[in-house]
Amino acid sequence: MDIGVFIPIANNGWIMSATSPQYMPTWELNKEITLKAEEYGLDFALSMIKLHGFGGETEFWDYALESFTLMAGLAAVTKKIKLYASVPVLAIPPAICARMAVTIDAIAPGRFGVNIVSGWQKAEYDQMSIWPGQEHFLRRYDYCAEYVTVMKELWTTGHSDFKGQFFTMNDCRLLPKPNAKIDIICAGQSQTGVDFAAQHADYNFCFGMGLNEPTKCQPAVDRNVEASKKTGRDCGALLLWMIIADETDEAAMAKWEHYKSGADLDAIAWMNHQGEADPRAALDVSAIYMSRPPSAMNLNIGTLVGSYETVARLMDEIAEVKGASGIMLTFDDFLVGLDQFGQRIQPLMKTRAHVSAAA
Ligand SMILES: Cc1cc2nc3c(=O)[nH]c(=O)nc-3n(C[C@H](O)[C@H](O)[C@H](O)COP(=O)(O)O)c2cc1C
Repeated sequence: MDIGVFIPIANNGWIMSATSPQYMPTWELNKEITLKAEEYGLDFALSMIKLHGFGGETEFWDYALESFTLMAGLAAVTKKIKLYASVPVLAIPPAICARMAVTIDAIAPGRFGVNIVSGWQKAEYDQMSIWPGQEHFLRRYDYCAEYVTVMKELWTTGHSDFKGQFFTMNDCRLLPKPNAKIDIICAGQSQTGVDFAAQHADYNFCFGMGLNEPTKCQPAVDRNVEASKKTGRDCGALLLWMIIADETDEAAMAKWEHYKSGADLDAIAWMNHQGEADPRAALDVSAIYMSRPPSAMNLNIGTLVGSYETVARLMDEIAEVKGASGIMLTFDDFLVGLDQFGQRIQPLMKTRAHVSAAA
């Protein structure tokens, strides 16, 4: 079971609250977090791309670095950890993204992959007049399919003449080729997103679900496994979880309650409003999921709250979710949280015994 970290490229990470740790997404912070993750034997680090924040009293995600340039910096200062950058497909042409990926692969050979972001928040793109209109919601994974096809052609052959509905390549060139295969990942929750991942990606993210409910996400993983079976490809399911840990269950739960008491309702309302623009929201599970009860405050990321022993036990139970190939972690406070994970939680986990033994 691989474990990674979703590094905080935007302010305050994944908690929309005035009473949670408040911080800016500096280079120094992200570097320190990624180096800690590498030191504790984590397998990968991923940064998202966010081009418009949600505002509110915490100015949630109004401050954000850019994903590829951040990962290029991290590629230069790390040695082992795998790195993923996120591409906003509407904003960056596939041949440019492919070349940026080859460049980072040159810095960190065989350690780089790309997260495909189809775009669910219209304001991010509208502010630059590059939102294609409502029809994008319905066609966005067709767009991604062409996008990824062009990149794979360039990476494997150095050339693309792809002609599609969205992209036309005219003897497009890209050399050098990458040192190793550049993995494609994605985080489709809707059936179209899951089907796209099964067809084109190496991994797809599902949301971990609930509070201390390690197996509640099994049906979401099952959907990924089913879709993968249909395509005959191996697209692994990764899970997203948040850890809030402390010496005792009570102390950890007190932090969780304290963060909830400061929920930034205006930022949550903004996210809700943006998610609702997607006409598929009523039809299946999509970005709107993040803004719904029970915990829009942390985007409904499944949350593990408890003592180090409790969290270690729950993490081992998540590893039993059939078909899950890895977990990506977020924390309330990433520096403290990674130390807690590396020094107190991981050594208690049966499923990470190999990492503790190696250390
Ligand atoms: C682990 C993870 C990473 C994501 N990264 C980004 C990102 O970088 N930028 C973004 O706008 N959306 C991001 N999303 C949202 C997804 O791309 C996707 O829009 C969302 O999960 C809803 O799925 P759907 O597109 O199938 O409706 C991410 C979601 C998850 C779970």
